[in-house]
Amino acid sequence: MPSITIQNLDNKTVEVTEMIQSVLQAMGAAGVDWMHACGGKGRCTTCAMKVVEGAENLSTYTEAEQRMQRQGRLPKVYRLACQCIVEKGRVVVRVPESGKLPHLEYTD
Ligand code: FES
Repeated sequence: MPSITIQNLDNKTVEVTEMIQSVLQAMGAAGVDWMHACGGKGRCTTCAMKVVEGAENLSTYTEAEQRMQRQGRLPKVYRLACQCIVEKGRVVVRVPESGKLPHLEYTD
């Protein structure tokens, strides 16, 4: 089953049970809080995650992600959690400083 591991959240691993779920939706289904200021519409970049491993296992960049890249708001190694889907295998990500929630304890 495809999975996503959040390296700096103590390597918490979430299994992706529905192949249509965005990473953000999969996190929500697993009870993992994730910043998403625009409600998952691809307009804010607060849900951005740094992909450490398994970038090839994610769906291709959406129009919203490409727009953010053109605007210089989404560096290449980052994806928007509300836009991408884990299609297969394992993906390892990190929550960037800007996406950390105050009530969660990040391991680095
Ligand atoms: S929640 Fe705003 S871009 Fe993903």
